[in-house]
Amino acid sequence: MKRIICKDYNEVSRLGAFMFAQQIWSKPDSVLGFATGGTPVGMYRYLVDMYKDGMVDFSAVTTFNLDEYYPMSKSHKQSYDYFMWDNLFSHINVKRENVFLPNGGAADAQKACDEYEHKLTLHGGVDLQLLGIGNNGHIAFNEPCDELHVKTHVIELTEDTIEANARFFDSRDDVPRKALTMGLGSIMKARRIVMLITGKAKTPVVKQMFSGMITPQIPASLLQLHPDVTVVLDTEAAGEL
Ligand code: GLP
Repeated sequence: MKRIICKDYNEVSRLGAFMFAQQIWSKPDSVLGFATGGTPVGMYRYLVDMYKDGMVDFSAVTTFNLDEYYPMSKSHKQSYDYFMWDNLFSHINVKRENVFLPNGGAADAQKACDEYEHKLTLHGGVDLQLLGIGNNGHIAFNEPCDELHVKTHVIELTEDTIEANARFFDSRDDVPRKALTMGLGSIMKARRIVMLITGKAKTPVVKQMFSGMITPQIPASLLQLHPDVTVVLDTEAAGEL
């Protein structure tokens, strides 16, 4: 895993946006993997600015998001679907039919996961995948556990994650207890991965991720097996690395 330590959140966001722009410049019909959470908001802002300045064209791009709460309707303000349109898709020229997220509103959750995995395969997989990391080491919604799933699946969120994500909801009780998430296999199939990590709260998990050990208790540690991962951190998250 390559790592790049930047001075602050703004620099991390700018570099992340530049890496995505570069991917589109080299392959205009790229399949991009996007993520949610607080961390990528700055990067999306930079991408919107670059689009408005005529520097990047999303018209041929396809996007796949990592995950979605379950059950969750698209119109809910805390759905990842809403988040992506609000922060990025509504402000750029990506085609609606080229945007994919797991369907949190599906009656049959497992069927929705299987269909999502199938669509991902049909599109030839992700060229550049964006990742964040949960305080407990989760990526997408692959929570620490004894056995990790390969493909897109339904997951029960851990108390840690419910607690961490409660800040986005009116109350902790409003956070859905389940999610649909790409599996570690779906993520590891991406040709390139860029992970953005910022803030002091992530320092302990960053240390564990770079410890040289691989364990499903820190799902992000599996990324050490991927041939092309760049982790972009701010000095706070990097701690004593
Ligand atoms: C959620 C998302 C993850 C994201 C994580 C960290 O749980 N499912 O994809 O990496 O939050 O979010 P934040 O960037 O807000 O710390």
